[in-house]
Amino acid sequence: MSVAKNDYKRVTTKSLFDMKRKGEKISMLTAYDYTMAKIVDTAGVDVILVGDSASNVMAGHETTLPITLDQMIYHAGAVVRAAERALVVVDLPFGTYQSDPKEALRSSIRIMKESGGHAVKLEGGSEIANSIKKILNAGIPVMGHLGLTPQSIYKFGTYTVRAKEDAEAEKLIEDAKLLEQLGCFAVVLEKIPADLATRVAQSIAIPVIGIGAGAGVDGQVLVLHDMVGMTHEFSPRFLRRYMNLFEDMTKAIGNYVSDVKSKDFPNANEQY
Ligand code: KIV
Repeated sequence: MSVAKNDYKRVTTKSLFDMKRKGEKISMLTAYDYTMAKIVDTAGVDVILVGDSASNVMAGHETTLPITLDQMIYHAGAVVRAAERALVVVDLPFGTYQSDPKEALRSSIRIMKESGGHAVKLEGGSEIANSIKKILNAGIPVMGHLGLTPQSIYKFGTYTVRAKEDAEAEKLIEDAKLLEQLGCFAVVLEKIPADLATRVAQSIAIPVIGIGAGAGVDGQVLVLHDMVGMTHEFSPRFLRRYMNLFEDMTKAIGNYVSDVKSKDFPNANEQY
């Protein structure tokens, strides 16, 4: 196994900024529980995202909308207990920051106090600028998220590539600059053309982390369960699967079932 090692004892928002400056790519993966987060952290991932994709991956919902703040705090607390090196970023779930800046701040404070997470992530640009300001003013680091923003799926109507048209691409560039001006420490760009993502990464100093946004950005993020092949019904072009755990685990569990049925398990050495 190759374990990435560098100088950072605990990755911070400042270390991410330094990585961009030095041209060192940033690795980010999701995790939602202690055991997975321990593996991800040990493997040397720089940032662990407690994504609201937990709504899909952990709870089986069709969208990210149903997950609650209490549920996000539960997942985030488990991840924080596992992560010794990675920076832990926690998604603010749908409905906990859009209505007004005070609510956004209250939700962020709950995440920071109750889970011990190190930063929050919010979806959107100029529409949520006041909420981002309010959170940052309280000393809470904020990661932005532009492009395909799954919490707005019912507005988009589809999960296809965003910002292919000039007007949407220009708005995205303006939003990325705004997020930097407001004081966000990084921004995720999801499912947009690679050329556009590269332009964004070159026009702002804060790290740009892509998912389906090509190689010209400062780092990459994937959903852990997708990249290890635990999920198998979701195969977008940008996804590289490093394992096929769905198949391997199904086989292993099938073998266990046969061994129990055939009375092969437990054997004499597997009992007291
Ligand atoms: O919730 C999530 O997993 C995310 C990533 C797709 C960036 O926001």
